[in-house]
Amino acid sequence: MRISDPNIVARLAELHVELQPSAALAGLTSLGIGGTTDLLRIKNHERIPDLLNLLDANHIPHKFLGGGSNLLVGDGELPWVILQLVCPDPDVVFEGNFAHVDAAADLGRTITFCAKNDLGGMEGLIGVPGTVGGALRMNAGAYGMQIGSYVREVKLYRAATRKIEILRGHQISFEYRHTSFAPDDMMLSVKLELPSKLFKDILQGIRICNEKRRSSQPLGQKSAGCIFKNPPGASAGRMIDELGLKGLSVGDARVSDRHANFFVNAGRASARDMLALIADVRERVHKTYGVELENEVVVWNA
Ligand code: EPU
Repeated sequence: MRISDPNIVARLAELHVELQPSAALAGLTSLGIGGTTDLLRIKNHERIPDLLNLLDANHIPHKFLGGGSNLLVGDGELPWVILQLVCPDPDVVFEGNFAHVDAAADLGRTITFCAKNDLGGMEGLIGVPGTVGGALRMNAGAYGMQIGSYVREVKLYRAATRKIEILRGHQISFEYRHTSFAPDDMMLSVKLELPSKLFKDILQGIRICNEKRRSSQPLGQKSAGCIFKNPPGASAGRMIDELGLKGLSVGDARVSDRHANFFVNAGRASARDMLALIADVRERVHKTYGVELENEVVVWNA
């Protein structure tokens, strides 16, 4: 989708929004898949309500992009523009055991920065790509922890009220890979309360998690992490593996040889290829196990 009306372009500049015409989503997602559309980079949170009013008044559909690490975007010219926050400097500010973190901050860098300030708790998430905002929206978790446990406050743009609001931790429900945020809410920043720990002890935890991840996940390859959620009491990866589906491909979309719940883009996979592979694996698992696997990856298909 293209924004070409000079009045809208001028207004975007007034709202401190940088317009990047015809951005390739393949370059903005960890899967390396996705078509093109205009990208609107937001430099000032406070102007978001005005920006959304401008887009709605001009019937311009939009989607919010975080770090693009848990996302499968459709091919070709996309029918919506993409909004993304520009990361401020600094993106983490400490106040005792609280860390105030911008949603656009890189998750891994934030965990390490907190560690250097003797604040731990999030070691399990080291190696999870993406932004803090994305981790928050999905309640990212690994190795027995989840980010939701540390959330005390979230500042967000709420599409329902068209306002920037602050929610307290107890007003948000964090479940397995699910939160009570609405799909069109936009995370802006979060206040985390983290336990005090010595840097060297946190580092030790980080090393252990890194090693576990390196030995079981295809880290160097283009992927969106796990494709399916684990069904209650079972492991999607183990079921797919037991069916002998590692290496199964549609075009360049391929079930990883290392972890069967990771599907990798082994070259120039299209969204069409990846969606066909997802559908095929889901059907095979359903046939054998009678379980309907639910996507963990977020799909934006036109
Ligand atoms: N397994 C296999 N074959 C495989 C993959 C796994 O037999 O190809 C077996 C493992 O041997 C293990 C069991 O399945 O006995 C579980 O595997 P693993 O420990 O790798 O955990 P997972 O349930 O597959 C979950 C999260 C990961 C997270 C890890 C570590 C989901 C969908 N996945 O994976 O998160 O990194 O635990 O805590 O909840 C993600 O969300 O994108 C993600 C990768």
